[in-house]
Amino acid sequence: MFDGMPDLWKKSFQKEFEGKLCFTDSEEMRRRMASDHTEDLVFMPGMVVEPSTAHEVQQVMKWAHANDVPVTPAGAMTGLSGGALPVEGGISMSTRRLNRIVTIDERNHQVVVEPGVIVQEMQEAVQARGLFYAVDPASRGSCTIGGNLAENSGGPRAVKYGVTKDWVLNLEVVLMDGSVIETGANTLKNSTGYNLTALMVGSEGTLGVITRATLKLLPWPRYTALMLVPFADAHSACRAVAEIFQQGNQPSALEFMERSAIELAAEYAGMAPPAMDASTQAHLLIEVDGFDPAELMPQLERIYPAVNACGAGEPLLAEDEAAKNQLWRLRRVVGEAVKAASVYKEEDTVVPRGTLPELLAAVKAVGAKHGFESICYGHAGDGNLHVNILKRGVSEAAWEAELPVAIRSIFEKVVALGGTISGEHGIGWVQRPYMDLAFGSTELHLQRAIKAQFDPKGLLNPGKIWPMEVSKI
Ligand code: LAC
Ligand code: ZN
Repeated sequence: MFDGMPDLWKKSFQKEFEGKLCFTDSEEMRRRMASDHTEDLVFMPGMVVEPSTAHEVQQVMKWAHANDVPVTPAGAMTGLSGGALPVEGGISMSTRRLNRIVTIDERNHQVVVEPGVIVQEMQEAVQARGLFYAVDPASRGSCTIGGNLAENSGGPRAVKYGVTKDWVLNLEVVLMDGSVIETGANTLKNSTGYNLTALMVGSEGTLGVITRATLKLLPWPRYTALMLVPFADAHSACRAVAEIFQQGNQPSALEFMERSAIELAAEYAGMAPPAMDASTQAHLLIEVDGFDPAELMPQLERIYPAVNACGAGEPLLAEDEAAKNQLWRLRRVVGEAVKAASVYKEEDTVVPRGTLPELLAAVKAVGAKHGFESICYGHAGDGNLHVNILKRGVSEAAWEAELPVAIRSIFEKVVALGGTISGEHGIGWVQRPYMDLAFGSTELHLQRAIKAQFDPKGLLNPGKIWPMEVSKI
């Protein structure tokens, strides 16, 4: 029986690496690496390998390349598109032991890390030196920097500070044939040759295994103020988003949550939901930050006219750190709360933020047509709406038959609005069937050719990103 890897490969691997590096074919570990946070997918690897140096990664890659064994790099398995799932079995290459913060360079505002470092640990380590790593995904307490690099993660602060790719200066990467490259230089500027760093970030582990990253830091803007602004209809909340920026504001986070998202999150976290009028249908969670606490209230006050013009109710200001943490905790658990509530499918739509109201209206219209309930939330300031389509109440047959049609309709609208099909979760395994909406065949072939250049045998994280028809080329 195929159990992730034929026995012959397993024996050969064991013979080569026994006593030389950490690996296992235990059912428990393979199971741990067989699923991430994407729906309820399970793909068993044959072997879980946990290298602790780039040299070990290199050795494993050389062996896999010579023996035609698939390798899928994996971090903490918190991905939301199945990017780290070993869909063709083989080796799950865990970065768990590549978890050193190598240097924090205070003079140059840089940090050098290995991919298995947990994002929050790195944030806290640099904050202890008065520095700031801006990217802050909802799963920061468990996700790794390697996973963030692979998927080009965003999170709430992206609206002011950008996404992972904006903070990467240089990467050390082991390619499928075992060669090691550096993609750039540890400099703030670089106009030297093609930008391999940018190519690697967001390539979902299909081009190489990142073994070291040099990231850019900022001085830490340690003060924040946070308010939750209610709206009687979700459309008005979305309309307020572009208005806030148009009036010259730059919040450090601008999140949208439908009422149902907040209610589910509160229930899931065992917290009381914030006080809401019966009429409230959605909220914007708006944060500003700075180096001086005195700057904050004026910043929030400058935002009021924009939200008021769109019919906002009375804002709830988080009075202290505990209140801020509570609101952020609610926001961070929405994804998990939805997952716990129902079988679901999450889409990571992104549009130019001025068209967010149209996107939301289209999502609801598609839901009504196909009989699906949806819960929407996300990084409204980026035009990035997480659309969770819930199965509850929908028959198995309708779910199977109509869901792909409904998703395609949503994505068609996204593209028509000038957006694209993933803002920060990646294409991975689950969004491949829709890549033809994001790119024409010329672009898809070009991307495929880049993949072939890096990995001609197609062994590294196989089965990801491109629709099947293109992968066959
Ligand atoms: C969030 C994750 C799901 O924004 O991206 O909560
Ligand atoms: Zn998100």
